[in-house]
Amino acid sequence: MSDEHSRDPHYKMAKREGYRARSAYKLLDIQKRFNIFKRSFYILDLGSAPGSWLQVAKKFASENLEKYKDKYYHRDHFKILGVDTKRLVPIEDIKIIKMDFTLPEFHKELDSFFKGEKLDLIVSDASIKKSGNKFSDQAMQFNLCYIILEFRKYLRKKGNFIIKVFQGADFDKFYADMKKNFSFVKSFKPKSSKKQSNEIYLIGLNKLI
Ligand SMILES: C[S@@+](CC[C@H](N)C(=O)[O-])C[C@H]1O[C@@H](n2cnc3c(N)ncnc32)[C@H](O)[C@@H]1O
Repeated sequence: MSDEHSRDPHYKMAKREGYRARSAYKLLDIQKRFNIFKRSFYILDLGSAPGSWLQVAKKFASENLEKYKDKYYHRDHFKILGVDTKRLVPIEDIKIIKMDFTLPEFHKELDSFFKGEKLDLIVSDASIKKSGNKFSDQAMQFNLCYIILEFRKYLRKKGNFIIKVFQGADFDKFYADMKKNFSFVKSFKPKSSKKQSNEIYLIGLNKLI
């Protein structure tokens, strides 16, 4: 174990609890605070490798099958799709596609997997490959974020949307664009996100139309 890992409680916890990455705790922190998985059965994860967010999504989606057996919106099965340009080790009951999700072909895959049905939740922890130049990295991340925001068209009304952004010049504009689409928008830095990192998550709840 490297020195950095041996000092990192989330890394150790992930090992112990069977999560593929420490990032699992970022999504768990987000869930604890915002209950994003409430009534979520159809879920899309953009930028999934190595797969810890998919593991977390599966945990909540399968719990939801029992938890929300009532007269309100529910389903008797879940569908989770993950996509990454990197290969992932398969996860039972989850569909994983190795592809660049910015390509038009990915939309065909989405339609065929969800059969045109709307999604309850979209999460994205995707980030660009950093070059080291803070300004161009931020600009490229926001370009990617705008492409990701387009996926909101697959969300049902009142669906939830989580996205990783970098703090910086384009943040306020992107935040305002999120506000046009969701009735509740908040930025959130999970406790498990490293302090020195400029990543932050935007939480969009209750898609407006
Ligand atoms: C921080 S990692 C995700 C970690 C994941 N949430 C987990 O917990 O295991 C970000 C991922 O986004 C992927 N990614 C970035 N842009 C992408 C794109 N256009 N298409 C597919 N995957 C992309 C990267 O390959 C990388 O694996």
